[in-house]
Amino acid sequence: MGFQQKRYNLIVAACKCNDALGIGINGTIPWRLRTDMKFFSGQTSTTTKENRKNAVIMGRKTWLSIPKKFRPLPNRVNVVLSKTLSKCPEGVDHLCDSLDNAMTVLSEGPIEDAIDAVWIIGGSAAYKEAMKSSLCHKIYLTRIHSSFDCDTFIPEIDLSRFQLVSDPSVNGERQKENDIEFTFEIYQNINH
Ligand SMILES: NC(=O)c1ccc[n+]([C@@H]2O[C@H](COP(=O)([O-])OP(=O)(O)OC[C@H]3O[C@@H](n4cnc5c(N)ncnc54)[C@H](OP(=O)(O)O)[C@@H]3O)[C@@H](O)[C@H]2O)c1
Repeated sequence: MGFQQKRYNLIVAACKCNDALGIGINGTIPWRLRTDMKFFSGQTSTTTKENRKNAVIMGRKTWLSIPKKFRPLPNRVNVVLSKTLSKCPEGVDHLCDSLDNAMTVLSEGPIEDAIDAVWIIGGSAAYKEAMKSSLCHKIYLTRIHSSFDCDTFIPEIDLSRFQLVSDPSVNGERQKENDIEFTFEIYQNINH
């Protein structure tokens, strides 16, 4: 089998804001959904191969938005994107100055053999770049049906490139927690 460039998945929770999807406000997430936090941890931590870990790639502000006691995200290789940081923040496994460079680091030598899935976990620039890339395999979108004020957005999913799929292990029905209604949606790249 020839060399195949590593693909990644994207995981995001978002509410509808005009024609975009709102993902954050004031450096934090506008809603609190335990079910979604559990879903995020489960999806990004679960590996298909023993002795491997998944990697999570995030922007500098998303790293900072994780409370100190919860970072680095356990059992995952934590990769932070920044063009301004010169020193790897404590707890971060790899500091990279672009998404391409992060993927290169994760695809090289012994690291490649230690990594299972790669997940893009925000924020808006990394999501936007990933959503446009042919390397983006699946998008896990927790669609929040209630509205919240947001200052950080991503575009709607391009249905000419991604199609809604079902996964028997994921509850695809509309759910409710603390009066907030949401649905776990999974989109797959139509070319994969
Ligand atoms: N709803 C969700 O699922 C979800 C998920 C994640 C985050 N969020 C929310 O989103 C907000 C944070 O997102 P954000 O978009 O404001 O910030 P962000 O993307 O997390 O961080 C932005 C910074 O990351 C670095 N960066 C991002 N992409 C890069 C790239 N391709 N190459 C090099 N550096 C890159 C840059 O750092 P330098 O300035 O150092 O160069 C940039 O200023 C927060 O409100 C957070 O709570 C929501």
